[in-house]
Amino acid sequence: MLKELLEERGLPALMTMRDGSPVTAENWGERRRELLDVLEEMEYGRFPEKIGETTWVETKQERVAAGVAKLHEMDITFPTPDGESFTFPAHVYIPDIASAENKVPAFVFISFGYPRYFPLEELMNEGVVIAEFVMNDVAKDGEDNWSTLLAPHFFPDGKRPGDGTGKIGMWAYAASRLADYVLSLDCVDPARLGVVGHSRLGKTALWAGANDERFTHVFSNDSGCSGAAITRKKIGETFPRICQVFPYWFCENMKTISVSIEASERTPFDQHFLLAAVCPRKVYVASAGEDDWADPTSEYLCCAAASPAWEAQGLCGFAAPDRLPEAWDTFAEGNVGFHLRPGTHFLSRHDWIRYIRYIKA
Ligand code: GCU
Repeated sequence: MLKELLEERGLPALMTMRDGSPVTAENWGERRRELLDVLEEMEYGRFPEKIGETTWVETKQERVAAGVAKLHEMDITFPTPDGESFTFPAHVYIPDIASAENKVPAFVFISFGYPRYFPLEELMNEGVVIAEFVMNDVAKDGEDNWSTLLAPHFFPDGKRPGDGTGKIGMWAYAASRLADYVLSLDCVDPARLGVVGHSRLGKTALWAGANDERFTHVFSNDSGCSGAAITRKKIGETFPRICQVFPYWFCENMKTISVSIEASERTPFDQHFLLAAVCPRKVYVASAGEDDWADPTSEYLCCAAASPAWEAQGLCGFAAPDRLPEAWDTFAEGNVGFHLRPGTHFLSRHDWIRYIRYIKA
């Protein structure tokens, strides 16, 4: 059934190199670079290169979560291409049980603002580090002519080339810089470093995870259009619509493929390229049953479409039954995980618990 449903979408081939040769276990690294290239060129813009060392200072420390964890308020600073530097705040929650002898998983959490999507006490009881930053402390989630926060450090004259990074890329880059700090903590297990975000920040978490191979587990919560959902024949939000309302999330070139539904369905890529760019690491897609704008079916099919990348390397890709998902389904056996939570668009306790199980498995 999934095979037929995928055929109806008419997706560009994932497992064929640009020169027409087949993708194998041996050339995966090259294919992954091709996938990232087309996504950079047409959708998110070039992922900025790291140009120097990240530094940090702690500004405040307090006990939280009924006294079983500490919140470290940090300022994270990194050099920027204009010869200057940029500083953004982060909140890093470390459970007391974490230590050099008892290393724990960590999540870089890209957030809309402290602390709406966040069952703190439960997360601390689970023994995971959470390193959170707020998108609007890095790049404004709105039109600013590239003149505020991080943006002018990339585009000093306000002029952005066709493949210059959009705001999703700037937030994703900040997630990598926060990861620099998280990986310096001797209580963190580098083999279990997650990145997580909801909705526009789910798209961002996927883009961060696709580019930065230190993220071993990449979590997309209800990311939908231009995130984990296949674009071709998607319901709810479309490329033309998202690009019209949120042009600054993407690169300028995206405007050429979002002029019409037809144009956006003729692209040399679809969103299964984004999930596959995480391969051979792990990617997990969460959907909410009533979230028609994001389109859970297109998110589920995207997982199935990306799966061959792992299979070609002898790994388990998406381990799911040959049917569409039902509410409460969780398919977390493979390197591509998925669950469908009943309810509306939100990053809930239900979602977090499954992310923790996946990263601890
Ligand atoms: C809008 C947008 C979505 C996005 C969502 C969010 O609904 O159309 O693409 O995911 O905002 O970030 O909450």
